[in-house]
Amino acid sequence: MVMQREFVMIKPDGVQRGLVGEVIKRFENSGLKIIAMKFMKVTMEQAQEHYKEHEGKSFYEGLLKYITSGPVVSMVVEGDEAIKKTREVIVGKTNPLDAAPGSIRGDFGLQIGRNIVHASDKPESAEREIKIYFNEDELLEWDWVLSQWIYEQ
Ligand code: RTP
Ligand code: MG
Repeated sequence: MVMQREFVMIKPDGVQRGLVGEVIKRFENSGLKIIAMKFMKVTMEQAQEHYKEHEGKSFYEGLLKYITSGPVVSMVVEGDEAIKKTREVIVGKTNPLDAAPGSIRGDFGLQIGRNIVHASDKPESAEREIKIYFNEDELLEWDWVLSQWIYEQ
């Protein structure tokens, strides 16, 4: 097994469109374990830190404005290959027009700049992004009774 943590955020468009429950349901059903969640507003400082790899790109300023424009839901999920499962199966490709049906972006998005959900692209990004939005004591260790049915024993 490759146990990983993945940082996920329901972006302001996802909240405004009433997709919070739908997105959380997909993660709950996926086999990944939710270990942290909060409803919050992203500060400009957090947004700049989060998206610093995109600084200077044409969409950077718009991206900061978008992510700080209203409440978001930040989550941490954990499981075997959590990053691949999240990005390639649950969330889908960055541009909703390229995202597969059945993925969140494929089912609910139309434009790359309004693609509903963020998910970290690699383990180092996940660890870095988790620290921007969560304190260590907000990541919960809890006994998940379903895990024996998700993983081979
Ligand atoms: P994310 O970080 O949000 O999970 O998305 P991603 O890895 O699939 O895409 P990334 O390349 O990291 O881009 C971050 C976010 O910037 C916006 N974007 N807009 N207009 C554009 O060309 C453009 N390109 C990227 C999207 O909101 C994307 O999710
Ligand atoms: Mg990214």
